[in-house]
Amino acid sequence: MSDVPAVVFEHVALAFDETVVMRDVSFSIPEGHMAILMGPSGSGKSLVLKMILGLVRPDAGAIHVHGVRIDGLSEPELMPVRDSIGMLFQEGALFDSLTVEENIGFKLKEEHRQPADVIRARVEEMLAVTGLQEFIDRSPAALSGGQRRRVAVARAMAARPRLLLLDEPTSGLDPITAKTVDAGILALRDLEHVTTLLVTHQLEDAFYMAGHEAVSTPDGIVIAPAPHRSAREVTFLVLNDGVITFDGGIDALLASTDPYISMSLSGWVPPLHA
Ligand SMILES: Nc1ncnc2c1ncn2[C@@H]1O[C@H](COP(=O)(O)OP(=O)(O)O)[C@@H](O)[C@H]1O
Ligand SMILES: [Mg+2]
Repeated sequence: MSDVPAVVFEHVALAFDETVVMRDVSFSIPEGHMAILMGPSGSGKSLVLKMILGLVRPDAGAIHVHGVRIDGLSEPELMPVRDSIGMLFQEGALFDSLTVEENIGFKLKEEHRQPADVIRARVEEMLAVTGLQEFIDRSPAALSGGQRRRVAVARAMAARPRLLLLDEPTSGLDPITAKTVDAGILALRDLEHVTTLLVTHQLEDAFYMAGHEAVSTPDGIVIAPAPHRSAREVTFLVLNDGVITFDGGIDALLASTDPYISMSLSGWVPPLHA
């Protein structure tokens, strides 16, 4: 693991016409860690991910990805940066005319021109990690909502990105189904050791991610409680009203007196042993 952070925002500002979305956004995500970005709808979370990909440029400030300042790069210069990132867009759709295998292997085939047997092996690996082995030949249309999300997460990871960006991967799913998607994300984070930036406004997901880890056992992949993981490796970021209003671990989040955070947390009690 490198000491150079995977992502750094320094005093980033962004406005569309009269609408100021980011006033002064600064944060840093160490390589190998997970950051969970929360904030009200319309606060600019998806835009943070688009800026990391160089799809949206800041009006002011600097953005670094794996040590490279990317906010002034040309489209050709951005290509290796984008190549190092796996992205699951909000409402990220699968190609319904392709099978699960073709969806997950799409980038390896079309962009990386990998041989068929290499692609097949990687697709099988991704399906094993996300618990979808039996669906390799299915059409996405024949999968449940949760299974489709897991395929989309597997697709974002297939080309072995250094950085995985996930935009609300569980939105619209019921809590049980959301957990199956969370488990797939945990397995990728912990078994593939990928730096992950997860956007979610579902606190259950955020706390589940912070309090669990995936472990590979002879019986398969197991999700186990990891109560001390959060202090080491999971950072919460809250984006609100154009600035980062919170940047810290789960204990500090639970103790925060920030109005948005307290309101989100009110009525929600973290499970002790879940
Ligand atoms: N291309 C764009 N042009 C104009 N306004 C935009 C554009 N993209 C996003 N916005 C606005 O920026 C704000 C933040 O958007 P977004 O990052 O999608 O919010 P979030 O993901 O936190 O819900 C919203 O008010 C949205 O309407
Ligand atoms: Mg969004």
